[in-house]
Amino acid sequence: MNYRGPYKVRADKNAPYPEILHPEDAIVRVVRSCICGSDLHLYHGLVPDTRVGTTFGHEFIGVVEDIGSEVTEVKVGDRVMVPFNISCGKCAFCRQELYGNCHESNPQATAVGGIFGYSHTAGGFQGGQAEYVRVPYANVGPTVIPEWMDPDDAVLLTDVVPTGYQAAEMGGIQPGDTVVVFGAGPIGIMAAKSAWLFGAGRVIVIDQLDYRLEFVKNYANAEVYNFRELEDPVVFLKQTTDSLGADVCIDAVGCEAEGNKMNYILGTKLVMQGGATTALHWAINSVKKGGIVSIVGVYGPIDALVPIGNVVNKGITIRANQAAPKRLLPRLIEHVKNGIINPKELITHRIPLEEVAEGYRIFSGKLDNCIKPVLIPPSAGM
Ligand SMILES: NC(=O)c1ccc[n+]([C@@H]2O[C@H](COP(=O)([O-])OP(=O)(O)OC[C@H]3O[C@@H](n4cnc5c(N)ncnc54)[C@H](O)[C@@H]3O)[C@@H](O)[C@H]2O)c1
Ligand SMILES: [Zn+2]
Ligand SMILES: [Zn+2]
Repeated sequence: MNYRGPYKVRADKNAPYPEILHPEDAIVRVVRSCICGSDLHLYHGLVPDTRVGTTFGHEFIGVVEDIGSEVTEVKVGDRVMVPFNISCGKCAFCRQELYGNCHESNPQATAVGGIFGYSHTAGGFQGGQAEYVRVPYANVGPTVIPEWMDPDDAVLLTDVVPTGYQAAEMGGIQPGDTVVVFGAGPIGIMAAKSAWLFGAGRVIVIDQLDYRLEFVKNYANAEVYNFRELEDPVVFLKQTTDSLGADVCIDAVGCEAEGNKMNYILGTKLVMQGGATTALHWAINSVKKGGIVSIVGVYGPIDALVPIGNVVNKGITIRANQAAPKRLLPRLIEHVKNGIINPKELITHRIPLEEVAEGYRIFSGKLDNCIKPVLIPPSAGM
């Protein structure tokens, strides 16, 4: 996959084979990769320093093809899932299991750590929407896929499942809590599903796409509302929670939120703020006093308009981060094994890697009832 500029990607059949550049590198032959909502921010030209020629893709699994001399945790032939963040495993932040905030994998930046295929803002690494990918710090990220696990489940454990789960975890959900999830994309769907695992008593999902709302209603047993049909989502959410507001609100939308034209234009067309903040506005304004807002939606590095006065005056706690799949994988593998989470049910499209441009077109346009597209390289073999 090769980025040529906003809304332009193509399959590059002459891309060079990646090389081992460091003794802790591995080369992985990719067998599945996904397109993520985060890739759409790149595709739409909203992430600073996204260079022409970059290969996107931070959700992938594959087979270890080659290893550097200091790789001890995986061997050639292992089937591995590779968390989306690149982490050294040793810095002050990795030691706190803040694997999304590694200080070594993206030393140019003060916020996010390295991420596969996510622009030079996130370290300039090539991604996994490819046949082969270089995996740095191969003793840290790659996790051997259990024999019994379906590769379609495994690929969703590299991002979607842990991110949705962490969104719910950061919400600090107490038994019986009302949880509102903004966004019924793969991340919001998984956040809604996970909210029950933390003891939620009521799970509400807000989006504008009926087919996604219908899916999450069935998949995660959620109450669903289309914000296009509500006069004011905040007033509605207050009314349905005894005028108190939700206990926990989750922003699983991020910087391309719709629902407020001015905010959308400022955030995505003029890029005068670090994204359209409408979902975050709604989350802050519809959570109860003393409630928690959990943000996994992605925003850019520049300032953005948020109702900070309401955060202070309502005593809201905001928790946010890039997810840390590595920290959560042991628990989530068990949940998949026990049938508590069935990730592969989210996959609606299987697209040959050569047709990656079509994959982006469908997922970006929310066409053909798309929820999660998976790209299959010609060399997948499984
Ligand atoms: N923090 C992390 O680690 C992490 C990991 C993966 C994805 N993300 C981010 O999570 C977000 C969601 O990802 P996804 O793959 O589900 O994306 P997606 O584009 O498939 O889904 C986003 C959904 O939000 C809906 N939406 C738009 N405006 C809304 C609003 N105001 N209120 C409610 N819903 C609204 C859209 O209709 C769409 O269904 C993205 O910003 C992505 O970058 C973060
Ligand atoms: Zn992602
Ligand atoms: Zn680190």
